[in-house]
Amino acid sequence: MDKLRIMSVFGTRPEAIKMCPLVQELASRPEIESLCCVTAQHRQMLDSVLEVFDLKPDYDLDIMTPRQTLSTITSKCLLGMDEAIETLKPDMILVHGDTSTTFAGALAAFYHQVKVGHVEAGLRTYDKYSPFPEEMNRKMVSAIADLYFCPTVNNRENLLKEGITEGLFITGNTVIDALKTTVRKDYVFATEELNRLPYDEKKIILVTCHRRENYGEPMKNIMLALRQIAEENPDVELVYPVHLSPVVREAVDQYLRGAPRVHLIDPLPADEMHNLMARCYMVMTDSGGLQEEAPALGKPVLVLRRETERPEAVAAGTVKLAGVVQDDIVTMGTRLIRDPESYARMAHAVNPYGDGNACRRIADAILWHFGRGEKPKDYQA
Ligand code: UD1
Ligand code: UDP
Repeated sequence: MDKLRIMSVFGTRPEAIKMCPLVQELASRPEIESLCCVTAQHRQMLDSVLEVFDLKPDYDLDIMTPRQTLSTITSKCLLGMDEAIETLKPDMILVHGDTSTTFAGALAAFYHQVKVGHVEAGLRTYDKYSPFPEEMNRKMVSAIADLYFCPTVNNRENLLKEGITEGLFITGNTVIDALKTTVRKDYVFATEELNRLPYDEKKIILVTCHRRENYGEPMKNIMLALRQIAEENPDVELVYPVHLSPVVREAVDQYLRGAPRVHLIDPLPADEMHNLMARCYMVMTDSGGLQEEAPALGKPVLVLRRETERPEAVAAGTVKLAGVVQDDIVTMGTRLIRDPESYARMAHAVNPYGDGNACRRIADAILWHFGRGEKPKDYQA
């Protein structure tokens, strides 16, 4: 029998971190030819992940331009995908999450009548503009997909409520599979500055911020709140690997640079980032991925957004929504820094997002779909 040609498509840093372990799992299956097409919606931040996982894509659309708009990303991906699909002739295309690459990848697959598997399916805020444009991207992909790999029960419930009842699997999130390979107790950082941080003497707060709906006033508020927290707490050091988006960099330069005890550094390779997270005191972020990783590592998270599509860790008590108002962020941050009881209540490791076997379940589900294996059991948290 011919091998199944399964093509994974991704383009940004978080998709890469969550898809590389899956590409490798698929490659380990004798029934599958694992193909990889990157759009390079992110260039440097994508390449950094490919290097960590030692993965060489079969196709690279190389679409990124500075300050790209949503329309340019989508149209360039769509056109590039035409060529990739015609060349690589996949039996199924896998897309991940909710980026413009995800949406364009699924749409291109549909235009070619190629089946679509959606990894990290069923996340919702029910607010069309937040996160923007991700909430609509994932809804549109849900309309196209054939198989839905939901990280949690709650994600499957969301799809059932929308009338999607076929092809649903609960797999856990592949990010936990990734963490299992990157986090090491004896890890030595390649970034020398990270080896020198005073992990035992000070409270290291790991910060990231990049969301489009936070551009403008919310991002200014976030930066000013971080500055105030650093100024008012001498026992704190903020470590902030700054996203390469020029919009984000401008906000950082204007409102945060120069504050005491703030380390503004370049984006970190995924293994460096995960090990820094494992050693930090707490996390402040608007990232989706960090909300999943930090709880698994026992680190409290303050989310710099008004909503989240990841309510599981909020329910488990390790993540809190801090919003985008300066005073609110400062109040919540200060409490976690100064009140040991508040901190202890949030700092326990929980794993609502997976057990590290999501990739195995997804590969099994794909083989089952094509009549080449047993149906996998759903992941139970
Ligand atoms: C994208 C995703 C978002 C995801 C985020 C992860 C969309 C619409 N947004 O947002 O869902 O959370 O990635 O980080 O798909 N840049 C570089 N080099 C890089 C990466 C980015 O220079 O390696 C700069 C470029 O100027 C680029 C800009 O950052 O134009 C913005 O990148 P883009 O992918 O458009 O948006 P993100 O905010 O990164
Ligand atoms: N990350 C990284 N280096 C950094 C910042 C983040 O490797 O300097 C990782 C992080 O650990 C997580 C992923 O990138 O796995 C999250 O990506 P991002 O915050 O860009 O996007 P989101 O998850 O919000 O879509």
